[in-house]
Amino acid sequence: MTAHVSSDSPVTPGSPPGALRRRAYDELAAARARTALLTDSVDDGELTAQHSPLMSPLVWDLAHISNQEEQWLLRAVGGREALRPDIDPLYDAFEHPRATRPSLPLLPPPEARAYAAEVRDRVLDVLDRARFDGDPLLDAAFAFGMVAQHEQQHDETMLITHQLRRGPAALTAPAPPPAPADAARLPAEVRVPGGPFTMGTTHEEEPWALDNERPAHVRLVPEFFIDTVPVTCGAYRRFIDDGGYRDPRWWAPEGWAYVREHGLRAPLFWRQEGGQWVRRRFGVVEPVPDEEPVLHVSWYEADAYARWAGRRLPTEAEWEKAARHDPVSGRSRRYPWGDGAPEPRHANLGQRHLRPAPAGSYPDGASPLGVRQLVGDVWEWTADDFLPYPGFVAFPYREYSEVFFGPGHKVLRGGAFSVAPVACRGTFRNWDLPVRRQIFAGFRTARDAG
Ligand code: AVJ
Ligand code: FE
Repeated sequence: MTAHVSSDSPVTPGSPPGALRRRAYDELAAARARTALLTDSVDDGELTAQHSPLMSPLVWDLAHISNQEEQWLLRAVGGREALRPDIDPLYDAFEHPRATRPSLPLLPPPEARAYAAEVRDRVLDVLDRARFDGDPLLDAAFAFGMVAQHEQQHDETMLITHQLRRGPAALTAPAPPPAPADAARLPAEVRVPGGPFTMGTTHEEEPWALDNERPAHVRLVPEFFIDTVPVTCGAYRRFIDDGGYRDPRWWAPEGWAYVREHGLRAPLFWRQEGGQWVRRRFGVVEPVPDEEPVLHVSWYEADAYARWAGRRLPTEAEWEKAARHDPVSGRSRRYPWGDGAPEPRHANLGQRHLRPAPAGSYPDGASPLGVRQLVGDVWEWTADDFLPYPGFVAFPYREYSEVFFGPGHKVLRGGAFSVAPVACRGTFRNWDLPVRRQIFAGFRTARDAG
């Protein structure tokens, strides 16, 4: 069987059934290829081991991916009889916190792989027969898109586990991302004019958007300035060298308590070796690259850096306006570069490079106002809590977004090198606790105008 893996055929309104079927097939295949790479690159002992209490054993992710696929595509969409209803509770993320998953009677690697293959085989049969209308789960092949995105989200989770794991490198180093030609000539910040813009999206505009991205609604965002590129390791090092981690002035009170309690003095995976900062990246120790966007900082660190720099984190609405607002037409684009799906020249996505590109890269992916690297490279912390848009309706299950709304979680935007194009849109919203450092998160800063 040939896998037609491509990402240049977005699901657009009115796509004919053949194109939707092909797109669903391609995205499921692309996700599975990535899952195979992440799980075949370590032995069975490493698949079942817990590399960090923050993460599941990789073999849990593997079977959880297929259990979700079984529940949504075989049972809900296909109306098929349950293959393995007995294992549902084991792979329910809400029943078992990550730290306790290694002690569960999980499917061993050969059985998890066999289960994954069997579910996929039947799903392709369901896909062959599916009609993409009538049922909201099937409209524009939504459930297939949701399941492909879910698998890719766990592929990012598994990449985080790879980054946390100790020992020699398991993933082979791909080619480095392209370096920018004109980075030195870029302005430090860009002015975004004040006024209304359309935030969020609709089923019609973005058929595979997830529930928290809807509905589209108008926001009045006053004029502001935003960094042209994400904050770099070199800039962040000046914050460290200036005693940033020892000065409570820069920190939110909970952030300061967190820094003290854990003795933080640099991003996760950094350490000083003979007067030089080095970092561990997928099992390889290398000098911290000054020109690369900083990674593995918590929201508290991003917030403190911004205050030290005399600036602040952008609000979520500011971030999305910078990424989507076209000041000429007044409409919101799907991506900073336009409405076309991400291509390699636009953004560093899809685990192609396993590292962010130097700041200023991807001129083809710039927004109309010239803001770069909004999509790809590093997730960007925003100032805001994860909250529903006015008129939000949970779909198709409350546990994707709704149960996480509230002041506990901060919003991240834009995706990272670790995220697949199918799971990254100008409207895509990610969230995490403000203490999280193992995720592929950095940030950029902003300021009020005038
Ligand atoms: C959207 C990345 C926060 O990993 O917790 C995976 C995605 N939801 N399975 C997560 C998700 C259910 C989610 N994030
Ligand atoms: Fe999940």
